[in-house]
Amino acid sequence: MYLFIAEDSYYYTPRIINQLKKKYGLKKIIPVNAGRTLEEGIQEYLNLLAKDPSYFGKIALISPVDISSTHSAYSKSAFLEKVYLRNFYGVSTVFQKSKNISAENILSEKFGVKFVKPKLTLKDYGGAERLAHEVNEILIKERYGLPVQGFLVAGIPGAGKSFFAECLSGELNRFMIELNLAKFLEYDQPLLMVDNFFDFIANSGDNYVIRIDEIEKMLKGEEIKNIFGRLLTQISGFGERSKSKVFFVATANNLSELMKEHPEFARSGRFDYLLYLTFPDESNARKIFGLYIDKMNKKLHSYIIPKMIKDANNKNLISSADPNSIRGQVYLLAKKGVPYEEISKRINFSFNVDETIHYSLMIYRDGCVVKNRYVYTPVEISYIVNKVFIDKILSGKKESDIIKEAVSKIQPIQFTLKGAIDNLEGKAKDFRRI
Ligand SMILES: Nc1ncnc2c1ncn2[C@@H]1O[C@H](COP(=O)(O)OP(=O)(O)O)[C@@H](O)[C@H]1O
Ligand SMILES: [Mg+2]
Repeated sequence: MYLFIAEDSYYYTPRIINQLKKKYGLKKIIPVNAGRTLEEGIQEYLNLLAKDPSYFGKIALISPVDISSTHSAYSKSAFLEKVYLRNFYGVSTVFQKSKNISAENILSEKFGVKFVKPKLTLKDYGGAERLAHEVNEILIKERYGLPVQGFLVAGIPGAGKSFFAECLSGELNRFMIELNLAKFLEYDQPLLMVDNFFDFIANSGDNYVIRIDEIEKMLKGEEIKNIFGRLLTQISGFGERSKSKVFFVATANNLSELMKEHPEFARSGRFDYLLYLTFPDESNARKIFGLYIDKMNKKLHSYIIPKMIKDANNKNLISSADPNSIRGQVYLLAKKGVPYEEISKRINFSFNVDETIHYSLMIYRDGCVVKNRYVYTPVEISYIVNKVFIDKILSGKKESDIIKEAVSKIQPIQFTLKGAIDNLEGKAKDFRRI
């Protein structure tokens, strides 16, 4: 006999029950949900059979949960065929939809999915013009309904793999969905849940970028591979069945691990683009320095200076400030009654980027693995800018001393993790180097 498992109340309406009856050639479907216990359901089943033996094999139960796993009488039944019915609205049931429980909430509960509305765009991504080709191509494919799978982005930690997904979804004005494949495994029917997930996306009318971070750590074991396979299949056919648009950005730090488990990834066209992010070249590094200097300046003017102006009457603060530091200068101007606009014009954060680049190459270049690029990753560049910023706010030291101190303190990972980086670089032959 059939056991229908349907979470969605939609399936318990007479109209749908009739449709199911026709589809499966049944005479009767007995609901075992809110109004009726399992025992009552079974009693009804037995009564019907006793009355009319022709009902044999023509009765099914429908239940929101899999009663065969909780009820031993059923789990032993060799005749039991389970049919899982997908929710009408993908992940949400009709009830959840009617209560306006957002699909985002349901998804994050069910699949541990995170929805992010990125505030950043590719303008925040130093060197984005190197990726313009791929980005444009994706947009054109989507425009004409051609399938888009997306990116596999490998590379050095801190090179901007995860950040790329975020800036790209912001650029395209989409939600970013952060997906954890292991969550699907918590279900009886993981593949059905993958389908539900895509139903949600297809019905939502929104566009998404799905980020799967550090995929090499996730893709362990056959089951998870099947789930990932289903995700790829779903995404390949997605353009044809939905107005919503979606593609993956999968990232990987450890290419040897990924290629060992998935040698096919680099070849079989599972992803449209294989990118390898390594250290920026010098001109790109300059841009990233510039981006973070601008960022710090915004911070400085939007809330640090206003706060300092408020503090300018606090004797303790004033007496502890180095008069040559940004802090000391702002206090001094504020005490003289210079207004915010004027102070803001006079005080700016900047430092000599050429000198910083020059000095860092001088002390680290020889010990680094990747010779024709800058020594730091983007995230390390952001640390340096941060450090110089804080030093300039707090101390009146000479700029070149501040720069030297920051560079000496922040050792490039390719200096400290030579072997690992060397190994990684060697694995990236099939990837386009950015
Ligand atoms: N191209 C870039 N331009 C500007 N900042 C970047 C860039 N790449 C990385 N960053 C900075 O470095 C941080 C770490 O990058 P992330 O993408 O998390 O590294 P990973 O490659 O390890 O995923 C980001 O949050 C961002 O602040
Ligand atoms: Mg990352």
